[in-house]
Amino acid sequence: MTSNITLEVFRYNPENDDEPSFQSYAVPCNKDWVILDALNYIKDNLDGTLSFRWSCRMGVCGSCGMMINGTPVLTCAKFLKDYLPGPIRIEPMEHFPVVKDLIIEMSDFVDKLKRVKPYIIRKEEQPLSEGEYLQTPAQLAAYKQYSMCINCMLCYSACPVYGLEPEFLGPAAIALGQRYNLDSRDQGKKEREDVISQDDGIWQCTFVGECSAVCPKDVDPAGAIQRYKVESTTNWWKSVLMPWSDK
Ligand code: SF4
Ligand code: FES
Repeated sequence: MTSNITLEVFRYNPENDDEPSFQSYAVPCNKDWVILDALNYIKDNLDGTLSFRWSCRMGVCGSCGMMINGTPVLTCAKFLKDYLPGPIRIEPMEHFPVVKDLIIEMSDFVDKLKRVKPYIIRKEEQPLSEGEYLQTPAQLAAYKQYSMCINCMLCYSACPVYGLEPEFLGPAAIALGQRYNLDSRDQGKKEREDVISQDDGIWQCTFVGECSAVCPKDVDPAGAIQRYKVESTTNWWKSVLMPWSDK
């Protein structure tokens, strides 16, 4: 027999509600259910007004992030049974405005992502007749870890600096900038430097490291930021001591 587990779910509709509240639902604790399954059970069987985002149910799309008992996680990657005996508290991701219930407004992250130009920039494209841009396994390995990011924004919810200073460019945007900076096919490092090296970029980070701790894809955005700090400082000293050298 399957026992029940209680979910305490954040509810808020800014158009009608003066303030948020929590609503409790008892759901079957099936051993192969993840938290997202329980939310879909509520939506389908108990309360169709509950709103939340999801798509792939397999840790790829990055859209099902929420706070579970105070920690940002992908709800399709966490089993209900691991939270027994409950209750489980489910809230929208911290540090983002709430659109409705568990859905957050993500345009701030999207704007920041655009600013780091997360795509390959070429000064001159080579003619198609010359074929693909080839890379060695070592050149691929140089950026592969940072390319695993699924834009889930858990790292922003975990980052106390972003919570206090919303202007901070933030972990994933910087890691994705690095992903392209380290790609042997890219020539846009200088353009990204103007965004990433600013006060609101890497220098806001105090290396708390929570971003890397919660990242479901082991991107290690904290490592990307510290690495960029070292590089940026080295480049600055080079420009002072050897102004004739090319960075
Ligand atoms: S760095 Fe990790 S936690 Fe941050 S958005 Fe990318 S996958 Fe998500
Ligand atoms: S539903 Fe796509 S990552 Fe969870």
